[in-house]
Amino acid sequence: MVICDPQIMRELSREWLREGKTIGLVPTMGNLHEGHLSLMRRAASENDIAVASIFVNPKQFGPNEDFAAYPRTFEADLAGCRSAGLEIVFAPTGSAMYPTGFCTRVEVDELTSGLCGAARPGHFSGVTTVVARLHCLILPTRAYYGEKDYQQLQVISRMTEDLGLGIEVIGMPIVRESDGLAMSSRNQYLDADERQAALCLSRALRAAQEAAAGGPVSAAAIEDAAADVIADEPLAKIDYVSLVDPRSLVPMAYLDEPGRLCLAARVGPARLIDNALIVPGGSLAS
Ligand code: PAJ
Repeated sequence: MVICDPQIMRELSREWLREGKTIGLVPTMGNLHEGHLSLMRRAASENDIAVASIFVNPKQFGPNEDFAAYPRTFEADLAGCRSAGLEIVFAPTGSAMYPTGFCTRVEVDELTSGLCGAARPGHFSGVTTVVARLHCLILPTRAYYGEKDYQQLQVISRMTEDLGLGIEVIGMPIVRESDGLAMSSRNQYLDADERQAALCLSRALRAAQEAAAGGPVSAAAIEDAAADVIADEPLAKIDYVSLVDPRSLVPMAYLDEPGRLCLAARVGPARLIDNALIVPGGSLAS
């Protein structure tokens, strides 16, 4: 069932909650791939009702970003949701999501200051504004987000906890193509050469884990190992390479506990991100 009206979505979910049903929510911007579907299958498997939202959220795109060009594939997305076992798709229009007079912005500090937050001003407040609205409308028991957008996952977890919404935020592992490229709707912007070049991101993560294989090491050594791989790829341009504490996202100086290596690079027309847990003395976890 496709629901476009937020008020109807709200009434339905209140009804399910009154009946004691658990609700799983998977927010998306559509153009679904295996990464999205992995979240949906999990939501369908562990809740009485599973809801996906499909909404290309204008508030999270900067003025020079790809809002207009973002791939919209609604019919195929519905088939994907059905195949993943979802009963309900919430697909509001822009004016239903943000009716005339809407002037609230939800802002999370600290966690949003670095990484993509530094490169994309206003992006995370756009994300938290729409996710807060989805969480409040639907009041899911559990909401599912991918580690692909690692900073987003931490920001949403924090916001949901800080607002006391009583929703369990669940992070899911990155789904990759067979050659290692993290699945992303933005991979479609790449031509064949750029698609090949984009593999430098996952290669950089592997190089970083190799640099940590001998045990504790400086963060700079890890970051340099990753940055060198990307710098060697002529079609890629580094935006950031940063080893951070997995929860606070504060840059680490020394890797003596597991850290999250986050990176962003521009490859042709696409800005791509990837990340992995780097464990001192370990091998690549995800
Ligand atoms: P979107 O990019 O459509 O992603 C929807 C969800 O799928 C996010 O939680 C994202 O982390 C997850 N995802 C994307 N690629 C993945 C991959 N390769 N493996 C695992 N999970 C993956 O992220 C957004 O939309 C928006 O910011 C949203 C949260 C919907 C708010 O508008």
